[in-house]
Amino acid sequence: MSELFDQAEQVAESAYAPYSNFLVGAAVRARDGRVFVGTNVENASYPLGICAEKSALAAAIAAGCRPGDLEEIAVTASPCGGCRQWLVELRLERVTYRNNDGELVTTTPAVLLPDTFEL
Ligand code: THU
Repeated sequence: MSELFDQAEQVAESAYAPYSNFLVGAAVRARDGRVFVGTNVENASYPLGICAEKSALAAAIAAGCRPGDLEEIAVTASPCGGCRQWLVELRLERVTYRNNDGELVTTTPAVLLPDTFEL
């Protein structure tokens, strides 16, 4: 996992975050070994920006991955509420992120977002 986290930190350097200056990177590993990376991409119309997790997960989806195909994700920041819902949707097994105290935390989507609804 630390290798995946290294990739998240590396891609964070490419983040486009001129408004917040909060550069975030994410790297997701599929069960077949493929790795997809993403960064946050901000916009002058602030709500249009997307998070690093979503951009990495969208890349995995575009490559054909489906819920259950993705084993773990590493993120350089604590996932926001909306991204937690994405992690639940795509059934990630593990999530590692750097918390506000600078520690690496490994947990599950269910811990990050308990009591999710079912359609
Ligand atoms: N951000 C992410 O990319 N992922 C998160 O889970 C936390 C927040 C981004 C969104 C925005 O570009 C910036 O960090 C500040 O909120």
